[in-house]
Amino acid sequence: MAPHHFIWFLVVISVLTICESKACHPDDLKGLNDFKVGIHSDTSGRLSNWKGTECCNWPGISCNSTTGRVVQINLPGYYEESSDDDEAPAPVIGRTMTGSISPSITLLTSLELIDLSKLVGLTGPIPSSIGFNLKNLKKLFLEGNQISGVIPQSMSNLTNLVILNLENNLLTGSIPENIGNLQALQELSLSNNSLSGKIPNSITKLHSIKSIELYQNQLEGEIQLPTIPGQWPAIEHLRLENNRLTGIIPPSVGFLTSLLRFSVSNNQLTGPIPTTLGNLKSLQHLFVDNNQLSVQLPNSICGTSGLSVLFISHNKIVGPLPNCFSSLKYLQQIDVPSHLNISIIPRGPVRKM
Ligand SMILES: *[C@@H]1O[C@H](CO)[C@@H](O)[C@H](O)[C@H]1NC(C)=O
Ligand SMILES: *[C@@H]1O[C@H](CO)[C@@H](O)[C@H](O)[C@H]1NC(C)=O
Ligand SMILES: *[C@@H]1O[C@H](CO)[C@@H](O)[C@H](O)[C@H]1NC(C)=O
Ligand SMILES: *[C@@H]1O[C@H](CO)[C@@H](O)[C@H](O)[C@H]1NC(C)=O
Repeated sequence: MAPHHFIWFLVVISVLTICESKACHPDDLKGLNDFKVGIHSDTSGRLSNWKGTECCNWPGISCNSTTGRVVQINLPGYYEESSDDDEAPAPVIGRTMTGSISPSITLLTSLELIDLSKLVGLTGPIPSSIGFNLKNLKKLFLEGNQISGVIPQSMSNLTNLVILNLENNLLTGSIPENIGNLQALQELSLSNNSLSGKIPNSITKLHSIKSIELYQNQLEGEIQLPTIPGQWPAIEHLRLENNRLTGIIPPSVGFLTSLLRFSVSNNQLTGPIPTTLGNLKSLQHLFVDNNQLSVQLPNSICGTSGLSVLFISHNKIVGPLPNCFSSLKYLQQIDVPSHLNISIIPRGPVRKM
């Protein structure tokens, strides 16, 4: 072989080697091909480019460069079209997919992110083995579809999960009893489904949680809150409105000192508005309207000095607003029972609903 032929030989061999090393893991390939089969239509055209064996190069797919395994399926319905012009912001495009999520998705055992949000037309259940096989999953976005069935109990085994967003779907059944096992979870969004049953007490063990949104379901029983301080040290949003919750607002709400928004509107809650609410120095939005809460707004409410939105109407609240109310200088929007004398509310930006 002449020397220049030998060099070409080496070049061809190395190109072949590189190409071959780009073929993805057979389990990942099968999982993705089965996923594609489950999708009947894709108005974004992204799946039509899923061809061959180099799945790491397919639209929406990312791999770990060391292991070569697929770590992301990133196919949201609203996404930014890449813009060549650095100055112009990329336009946000909305596209839909119809079909269901193939159970083979659980073959992609290195997945860290699944974003199939806002595709509108995804139907069928969440594959029930998801929690047994996708142990590395950190973010699961399935919101804004028509996914039905129950939240698989196995999901409580996803102990690396940081974000779980299943809101705006058609899920039924109850919240997995062991949801408290998700020790890394920061955002739990299950709003606007048809979930029923009680909120599991284990939810109080979610020590990393920042946001719990369970509004607009048919949840019943009592509000579950940690009973000792420091259990939810980072909680900012707790939204439980539009359910069928009963019992009292637990006084231990006062331990949640990082809360910005607390909303329990449109439930069947009874008892007083706890005086411990005054401990919530960061609270900005308080919604307790449309319940059967009694007595009166406690003086301590003035401790929430940054309060800007307060909804307390449609309860059994009698008695005046506390005199200190005029010190709440950031109030912008209030909805108080019409029989209360609201003339003590400072004039200015306040808008009475
Ligand atoms: C790729 O996987 C290896 C082995 O699991 C891991 O150590 C590394 O952090 C991963 N790389 C990235 C960028 O995630
Ligand atoms: C999943 O979690 C349940 C408890 O919720 C446990 O009984 C089961 O052994 C776990 N399975 C796996 C595969 O880790
Ligand atoms: C609730 O979810 C359904 C299904 O995704 C959606 O069509 C509807 O707009 C959502 N409602 C609200 C108030 O977000
Ligand atoms: C309402 O409060 C104002 C200011 O404190 C007071 O002057 C007025 O008499 C009160 N009106 C009623 C009906 O209590």
